[in-house]
Amino acid sequence: MSIWGIYSCFYDLSLRNLFPYRQLLDDLSSALEVKDGERILDAGCGPGAVIERVIKENRGKTISVVGVDFSRGMIGRARKRCMKLPDVRLQVADLNRKLEFPDNSFDKVVCSNVLYALENPEKVLSEFYRVLKPGAAVVIANPKPNAGERELVREHLRTLRRLSPFHRRAYHMIVSILLIPVNLVVTTINKIILTRARNREYYFLDKGSLSRILQEVRFRNISISSCYADQCWLVRAEKWESGQDGEDRVSDS
Ligand SMILES: C[S@@+](CC[C@H](N)C(=O)[O-])C[C@H]1O[C@@H](n2cnc3c(N)ncnc32)[C@H](O)[C@@H]1O
Repeated sequence: MSIWGIYSCFYDLSLRNLFPYRQLLDDLSSALEVKDGERILDAGCGPGAVIERVIKENRGKTISVVGVDFSRGMIGRARKRCMKLPDVRLQVADLNRKLEFPDNSFDKVVCSNVLYALENPEKVLSEFYRVLKPGAAVVIANPKPNAGERELVREHLRTLRRLSPFHRRAYHMIVSILLIPVNLVVTTINKIILTRARNREYYFLDKGSLSRILQEVRFRNISISSCYADQCWLVRAEKWESGQDGEDRVSDS
């Protein structure tokens, strides 16, 4: 079983209770700027938290979402989570291979904390570019080169301290009884991921490299800012094809 198979048993339980992760879901959903009638691809959807957030944030709009992940465990969890949500299709697919979707078939692609683990991020971004419609956008979260867990935990505790005493007590009770063993497993897996990143098996890219790759793939209107307690880059970029009007802008916020 790959680390993702093991991760699938613990990831959701651990992350859904982490305040910076909840904030990340909000940030991804806002950056997507979903409009009525759009078709969205969640590449490396994991247990479906991004899909759920995007659909709930856009109630009243008719949108359809396709989630792909190569871990059957993750897709199984995403299926359970999204069972009652309208127009969600989930499928097992390896992002290291060509996507099975036709050219120009999505209005948005979201890829949260996945790109770093893929064999060739540039090739995968080219695939995202291919399946996006002209003018459509990709939204990516990817760890910064020195990303780690410490700042995430600090930010989580800062948010906890701001909650009312009742919420804080209730939350601590649940965490201490249920989540400490789960978080220990997740921390161990994160250590494996961080070691792979240090050994350059995984791509924790700096801002310049991310921007260069996106430009080489021909994305335009690239904006890169910090998210996830400053441990990740939040990237938004658009597909512009020759003949289209559009600025060639790279903005660093
Ligand atoms: C850290 S999780 C992120 C999950 C989700 N995007 C989120 O933000 O909650 C990374 C996900 O990428 C998936 N993944 C890793 N390599 C993949 C590949 N080659 N093809 C498809 N999915 C992959 C894993 O199975 C896992 O679900």
